[in-house]
Amino acid sequence: MINKYEFGIPFETDAVVKQIKKSSGIPKGVQINCDNGFSFKCKIDSDTIVYGLGQSIGGINKRNHLYSSFCSDDPSHTEEKQSLYGAHNFIIIHNPNDSKSDRAFFFDYPGKISFDIGYSKIDEIYIYAERSDIALYEILPELEENKNPLINIVYQFRKLIGQSYIAPLWAFGFMQSRWGYKTEADIRNVYESYKKENIPLDSICLDIDYMKDFKDFTVDKDRFPELKKFSDDLKTKGIRLVPIIDAGVKIEDGYDVYEEGVENNYFCKKQNGENFVAGVWPGKTHFPDFMQKQVRHWFGQKYKILTDMGIEGFWNDMNEPAIFYSEDGLSEVVEALKKMDTTNLDINSFFQFKDNVYKISNSIDDYKRFYHQCVQNNKSVAVNHYDIHNLYGFNMTKSAGEELASIRKGKRTLLFSRASYIGMHRYGGIWTGDNASWWSHLALEIKMMPSLNMCGFIYSGADIGGFGCNSNRELLLRWLAFGIFTPLMRNHSALGTRNQECYQFENTKDFKAIIEVRYRLIPYLYSEYIKSCVNSTLMFKPLSFVFTEDSRCLEIEDQLILGDEVMICPVCNENAKGRIVYLPEDMIQVRFKADGTIEQQEVKKGDIYINVPLNEVVFFIRKNHIVPIVNACENTDSLDYSTISLLGDVNGTNSYLLYKDDGVTTEIDMTSNIVELK
Ligand code: GLC
Repeated sequence: MINKYEFGIPFETDAVVKQIKKSSGIPKGVQINCDNGFSFKCKIDSDTIVYGLGQSIGGINKRNHLYSSFCSDDPSHTEEKQSLYGAHNFIIIHNPNDSKSDRAFFFDYPGKISFDIGYSKIDEIYIYAERSDIALYEILPELEENKNPLINIVYQFRKLIGQSYIAPLWAFGFMQSRWGYKTEADIRNVYESYKKENIPLDSICLDIDYMKDFKDFTVDKDRFPELKKFSDDLKTKGIRLVPIIDAGVKIEDGYDVYEEGVENNYFCKKQNGENFVAGVWPGKTHFPDFMQKQVRHWFGQKYKILTDMGIEGFWNDMNEPAIFYSEDGLSEVVEALKKMDTTNLDINSFFQFKDNVYKISNSIDDYKRFYHQCVQNNKSVAVNHYDIHNLYGFNMTKSAGEELASIRKGKRTLLFSRASYIGMHRYGGIWTGDNASWWSHLALEIKMMPSLNMCGFIYSGADIGGFGCNSNRELLLRWLAFGIFTPLMRNHSALGTRNQECYQFENTKDFKAIIEVRYRLIPYLYSEYIKSCVNSTLMFKPLSFVFTEDSRCLEIEDQLILGDEVMICPVCNENAKGRIVYLPEDMIQVRFKADGTIEQQEVKKGDIYINVPLNEVVFFIRKNHIVPIVNACENTDSLDYSTISLLGDVNGTNSYLLYKDDGVTTEIDMTSNIVELK
């Protein structure tokens, strides 16, 4: 059951697709105050667990931390950070002692909203926002037919927010990326190097250097003389190119996107009516006002320039939007610095000097300097960007998603974004942004998957190996051994870091062994992915969502249930030869060995130590469940479903319902595309 409460005049965010009648009053057992902004308080007892919040730092259990939903371009994902790139205002409050009293809340509010989950007071959730215009959804479990309350809550929420975006099958192949590939020769070298080492590969990303001077929808002809020919040629080899698109449009006379945007008033404006100017990669840019339908249509249609060159996938970036500086902010800082006596900086003035410069990027002042033209209650109104900050990336991706659906009629396009808000999950996936080559970030990414799924983001994944800092062979192999399970499986790294393609390291056979396991599992992973999008279920679940009577599972954050069949337990400690795994029930241990053979053995419930060499993948299949695999192959074009064999509890009675289609058609038929495997 879902109750909707409204306070003030909520902004119509488009997060929700189902109409819910407004209830009067407030949810039971909570305190809400709208006198000075919005605040929400509720008590939690010591055993209560709080799930949700999608993309955020912290554990699967969100207790003891402060979080802020404010889409942030911040590449330093350290433990104390409150915001990442996504704003996912959904929490589930789970009482393990009385799960019938579980409930969830979705705070549909497009501005900055903070979540104090037992941080200030150990027994209290305190949620607050500067404005009191908010739509609050309370989701209570439907308890008839012994439904699992947690799974049922997620189901109802996901129905409320609409079906998640469905990626094409090839997007389940391994993707290689790096900020720094500059030319056709660089890209060809990536393809050839993978080919030489016989490591499977499906796609290569084009980062900002493919563009002419970082201008969206242009191609630098010196670096990529014939992108269409190149892309067509790579496609015959099973490789697709995935270019990046940034939010800011370069200010440059003669550049059509800029000129059309200015002429038609498509860019965000300052209060005085001038177009807002922000510095990003190309220097000064304007931001398209994606809140306007006609702007979304105009910008989204530009993707056709690239689809006409054979492109079938995109990543939308810098769409928080990231602002290095604004024209106004920069002059203020320069003025402030000029006024400072910089000849003898002391303890105060030095830090003030530094702060002046440091605070210039992504500043709140800048977010308050520009406006969107929005339709609210059928009226066009100017809205300050700061108040609806979290909707920008969502609407950029909505623009791409909507228009690509018409440009490539009937065909799916790969699309993933950096910034997001709930609602965007209907148009594209996300990657988790600029993480680092740290073991703690591998662990963090594991914890994030179920939280993202709760909020509707199913096609997602991390920069494998880590984006910032230097990776190493062991970290990359361990990260890949987790990444083989995530829908988006992309190795990506930052300019200036150590080269991180699999072929850059010793004994490439080990990388081949791990990535081949991915390809062997694709029919299963793809099938589970589609089911979770269409049936509003979690592809990745915390153990506690499944083994509801087992209190040990409430604490486990480094093992996940995948689909209904598999338990994954990635190794995320440096120099570890294996790890301890907790089995809540008897299971079948599956070991993919480096030579391609598979060992299976029954294992009893309890704690076990598993030895996991760097070139092997170990996971578990639940009793009475089976998992299909196929033969290894070099890319998804050569996946051979006729080689299906079954792993797990194969005894003729257990079956698996495999979803299988052509991988590109938008229509998903859950009846005729399902095959029962026994
Ligand atoms: C941003 C993106 C990163 C990309 C870089 C250059 O930092 O998050 O993935 O490589 O910009 O485009």
